[in-house]
Amino acid sequence: MSNSNRNLKKILLQVNGSIAAFKAVALCSKLVQLGHEVEVVLSEGAENFVGAASFEGFTRRKVHSGLYDSGQMMAHIDLERWADVILLYPASANTIGKLANGQADSLIGALFLAHEFNKPYLIAPAMNQAMYKHPSMQENLKKLERWGVTILAPTDGFLACGETGGGRLIEPEAMLETLNHMLEPVGPSKKILITSGGTSEPIDAVRSITNFSTGETGYRLAEKLRKSGHTVTLLQSKLSKFESMAQLSYLTTDDFANQLKNKLETESYDFLIHAAAVADYRVDHTHDGKIQSESPLTLNLKPTQKVIQQVRNWSQNKNLNVISFKLTADSAMKLENYDSEWIIHNELRNVKGENHEGTIYNRDRNPQFKFKTKSEMTNLVQSIIEGSNP
Ligand SMILES: Cc1cc2nc3c(=O)[nH]c(=O)nc-3n(C[C@H](O)[C@H](O)[C@H](O)COP(=O)(O)O)c2cc1C
Repeated sequence: MSNSNRNLKKILLQVNGSIAAFKAVALCSKLVQLGHEVEVVLSEGAENFVGAASFEGFTRRKVHSGLYDSGQMMAHIDLERWADVILLYPASANTIGKLANGQADSLIGALFLAHEFNKPYLIAPAMNQAMYKHPSMQENLKKLERWGVTILAPTDGFLACGETGGGRLIEPEAMLETLNHMLEPVGPSKKILITSGGTSEPIDAVRSITNFSTGETGYRLAEKLRKSGHTVTLLQSKLSKFESMAQLSYLTTDDFANQLKNKLETESYDFLIHAAAVADYRVDHTHDGKIQSESPLTLNLKPTQKVIQQVRNWSQNKNLNVISFKLTADSAMKLENYDSEWIIHNELRNVKGENHEGTIYNRDRNPQFKFKTKSEMTNLVQSIIEGSNP
């Protein structure tokens, strides 16, 4: 990063008690050299490995440590609000566990609870390979990632304990590179319409045919893109707790289609992300009242309208970019009917919780990117939208 194109930031560098803590001194030095403002928090553990003098020397600022340090009583809120980006480098197993469980008995723990996920929070774990592989550690990391923390996975290699394996802290240079990438100014914010959740087709006044879609994918994308400064409207089957986002809810396929049509016709969107699970069939004749359950019942189903094939006709912006999701129960899939710039294909058996394996195809139906988790997928979609190389 040269001085001429740098994007100067206020960086909160938090350091844990790890044998790799000395690398945080090098990172701090580089951040200051690049012109960033840096505040440092040393955990109780960290103070056994590195001294405040080095950090204070580089930053020319008093180093923070205790939750109850005199004259800094509100540091656990003030530092969080001050920072543009928050780093935990290196992150110990102990602190990762505390953060994942909402423990606020340390300055780093309290700062994390005051974090509102409206700016980057990066964690770089460092530990023995067995500690890193431990199910408790892996669950904690997944939890943090789900909440919006970026985990910078350790590398494989020789560890200070004499063992070899995963758990080696990423080098300061790699940390800087990731940071630079994240801090690069994004292009102009995009206007994005996201559909999510599943339709319900009524059988009678109290019953419906629906599907297992949770709306999680659309929700996660909406959250990430909104936090990155884009203008997002979410059309979903159930209203969620988003406050700063336009939301609409739908029930049936026709209802969904009408609302989508109205939005696309009246506003100019740059992107449509179609993650909703729309019914292929609906009941031909919906019963008034409640069908009595004594006798066998035959339902006649008829195909619903193919919404995705109509969106371009509806769209005010004739250059609308469409990103659609295609879920299949096996690897066989037909993409011909998809008039989309990007198709995100996933198989049912590969989608469970945070695990979300799949492939992103371009307009020519060539596979372009693969992902293994929901966060990898949302990162790729963000890169596509922002026109940067994933
Ligand atoms: C020599 C030595 C090296 C250590 N290295 C690590 C390490 O790399 N990663 C880790 O998670 N814990 C390591 N620990 C254990 C932590 O220092 C310990 O769990 C401490 O409570 C962490 O404190 P903190 O989370 O407040 O920083 C090490 C301990 C010792 C004595």
